[in-house]
Amino acid sequence: TNDIKKKLPLFGQNMLVTAGPTYEAIDPVRFIGNHSSGKMGFALADELSSLGADVTLIAGPTAQRSIFKSIKRIDVVSAADMLNACLANFDKADACVMCAAVADYTPVTVASQKIKKHVDGLSIELKKTTDILKTLGQQKRTGQLLVGFALETENEEQYAIDKLKKKNLDLIVLNSLNDAGAGFKNDTNKVTLIDRNLHKTTFELKNKTEVARDICLRVIELLKK
Ligand code: CTP
Ligand code: CA
Repeated sequence: TNDIKKKLPLFGQNMLVTAGPTYEAIDPVRFIGNHSSGKMGFALADELSSLGADVTLIAGPTAQRSIFKSIKRIDVVSAADMLNACLANFDKADACVMCAAVADYTPVTVASQKIKKHVDGLSIELKKTTDILKTLGQQKRTGQLLVGFALETENEEQYAIDKLKKKNLDLIVLNSLNDAGAGFKNDTNKVTLIDRNLHKTTFELKNKTEVARDICLRVIELLKK
């Protein structure tokens, strides 16, 4: 079996994957979150693992489970937790696939007690979270591969290319929310892959396992270069 494993295309490669949403606490019983199911990131971790990679999966709150026991799963809650877990695992990674739907904003302060409904209106002051992908892009070594995702509702390709450049990525996966059956909660996804040379590939609506396979094949190609 060991000889068979050695023949897999990602044998010996260390892969870091993030998946799911993050939850930003408001008070002890409430949070700001999003509808990410974690399906895409878990499918990616499974696919990378089946291709022979050593996978570390950093997961926000999700009910998903990995197929492969060999995947090292690290559970996190907030964007700040996810950043720390990513930084701790970045150096050893040959490639990172950042699929998580990280909160862009987090409450400035977390109330220590449950907020009571004293007033008619309530405002919660928010501050920006650290962009994990951008931070990793700044720390990237030569040869290390960084893959990001982009969710856009307008001006899709241009915004995705802007993110690719701004975050120093090798590949960006553009999610189309416009198509029925694609996106957050569904089992299917429709993606366009744009690489660092702005080479673009558009795929049909597929289930997330097949989308994960398409992304992995592109990662394998880019790692060879
Ligand atoms: N991302 C991240 N850290 C954040 C926010 C986003 O690492 N604090 C990553 C996501 O995991 C994803 C990519 O950045 O791979 C793009 O996320 P997206 O929400 O599409 O873009 P943003 O850069 O957050 O910009 P905006 O939401 O304004 O479009
Ligand atoms: Ca965002």
